[in-house]
Amino acid sequence: MRTHYCGEVTAEHIDQTVTVCGWVHRRRDHGGVIFIDLRDREGLLQVVYDPDRADVFAIAESVRNEFVLQVTGKVRNRPAGTVNPNLRTGEIEVLGHELQILNRSETPPYMLDDETVSEENRLKYRYFDLRRPEMLARLQLRSTVTRIMREFLDNNGFMDIETPMLTKATPEGARDYLVPSRTHAGTFFALPQSPQIFKQLLMVAGLDRYYQIVRCFRDEDLRADRQPEFTQLDIETSFLDEDQIMGFMEQMIRELFKRTLDVELPDPFPRLPYDDAMQRFGSDKPDLRIDLELVDIADVLKDVEFKVFSGPANDPKGRVAALRLPGGCELTRKEIDDYTAYVSIYGAKGLAYIKVNDITAGRDGLQSPILKFLPDEAISVILDRTAAQDGDLIFFGADKASVVNESLGALRVKLGHDRGHVQEGWQPVWVVDFPMFEYDENEKRYVSLHHPFTSPRESDLDKLESDPANCYSRAYDMVLNGTEIGGGSMRIYRAHVQEKVFKQLGISDEEAREKFGFLLDALRLGCPPHGGIAFGLDRLVMLMSGAPSIRDVMAFPKTQTASCLLTQAPSEVSERQLRELHIKLRKPTKVADS
Ligand code: AMO
Ligand code: AMP
Repeated sequence: MRTHYCGEVTAEHIDQTVTVCGWVHRRRDHGGVIFIDLRDREGLLQVVYDPDRADVFAIAESVRNEFVLQVTGKVRNRPAGTVNPNLRTGEIEVLGHELQILNRSETPPYMLDDETVSEENRLKYRYFDLRRPEMLARLQLRSTVTRIMREFLDNNGFMDIETPMLTKATPEGARDYLVPSRTHAGTFFALPQSPQIFKQLLMVAGLDRYYQIVRCFRDEDLRADRQPEFTQLDIETSFLDEDQIMGFMEQMIRELFKRTLDVELPDPFPRLPYDDAMQRFGSDKPDLRIDLELVDIADVLKDVEFKVFSGPANDPKGRVAALRLPGGCELTRKEIDDYTAYVSIYGAKGLAYIKVNDITAGRDGLQSPILKFLPDEAISVILDRTAAQDGDLIFFGADKASVVNESLGALRVKLGHDRGHVQEGWQPVWVVDFPMFEYDENEKRYVSLHHPFTSPRESDLDKLESDPANCYSRAYDMVLNGTEIGGGSMRIYRAHVQEKVFKQLGISDEEAREKFGFLLDALRLGCPPHGGIAFGLDRLVMLMSGAPSIRDVMAFPKTQTASCLLTQAPSEVSERQLRELHIKLRKPTKVADS
């Protein structure tokens, strides 16, 4: 039906007759001449109809926005002064000879280039919204990204294998999406949170190198970078160690950035131990573009009278940290109050600060609501450790370490953006040397920092039972500009180690047999040493495209409350369907948002 895409007609086609198909982006009447901007996947093309051909002109007059047209005409230069340098087709236009309306459109729900449309409307009319050039561009980038990933992995001997979507609910991890079984009354499949166990079983099977671009399902609280169903590039290999896997994976990411964005990422990516990341940035996914850092000061505050500081300073689980903001003396009272309110979201009970007006003037050069609580020596250590200069402001966090890390970690990022401390560009980093476990105060037990199949360090094997808190794992996360884009590890490949780890997680032998028996059996049948990683494809494409949310790089995403505004899923089903599935609803229940 066409000779070219609209967006591909350029000056090299001048004097040629072309046929294009597309949607009416805009129609303008200019005193006897009609201009139609025709849009397709590849871009916009200006088509001109003049009244010389009366019949075609009449059709051109009747078209409206979003009508689908087939246009034939001759390519010519635009008149001097009307060239549009922002468009690939901006030097030329098509003088229309023929025009066929392939389909009409009702008045669209909103103008495509209206930036003020609510996201609700945009999701409801997603098939229309995806016509926005920037939305199409993101999906095109996503398609290019997966093509390059496949090429890289295919060229390196990885096999693309599918794993089940209807699988077994297992403990640990996020909440499952469940699917009731019709043929086995009262039992349920779970949709996979990731193909973790299956890819390990493929290594037991001897496949050696596996990958899959695969949908994962997690029923968790949603955020800008979290969706209930999302896509992983999932990878597993045998007989490689963590350095080899990390090296391989960063090579893939470097190639990806070079080929799509023409960006050279560092070779190798820097590595940062988890403990350092928490200490310096309060986060295990630090944004290294921001040059602000936390420093510990608990040691000089143990004996101060100010309980807010001395309490956490003497608590083994506490932390007292300072965060210097260069030039922060400029902050107004109101701004400081706003930051105090901001950290309270993360559980901070306050946000003490010192303004450093004149460092040579001693106490008189400082301004702070807590100055009177601090002895000279503590002040001088704080100024020294934070490398404070005149004009700076130092913020303080004192609480349980987790609260200080979360609140000052988030404040660091916020200050970075608010106060111009974010460098341009891309800062990848591997976070390594994670602890095996963290203690869950609610559940009163240890939980895995990654997942229960992550291998402990060989040297920590004997600490698994005696000192789990100081056991480190062989896990690694790839972080890019403050977003965790991938995570993986070397796996446990010996059954007795897996059994020990289950035990530490509070999973009884009986439960381990019932829930993970097939894995334990497989580990006993010649399991090779293996490891792998999974990348969050949506997050990666979100970063690469500069989109604010992963919803913007998914064709049909869900809302923050995990529903689809387009199809109105989830929805009620018939009594009969429920009966077949052996489900009795007591009464229709609406799930609350939170
Ligand atoms: P993990 O749980 O870290 O590891 O997931 C891997 C990557 O997937 C992305 N991701 C998400 N993206 C969007 N929405 C979500 N709800 C979401 N949850 C996770 C992140 C994350 O880095 N099986 C292991 C991997 C392995 O060990 O090989 C796993 O799933 O970018
Ligand atoms: P208060 O004695 O509660 O008035 O607090 C004095 C100062 O310490 C105020 O600036 C508070 O914002 C700050 N502050 C209180 N609790 C904390 C905390 N846990 N961490 C950091 N600063 C705090």
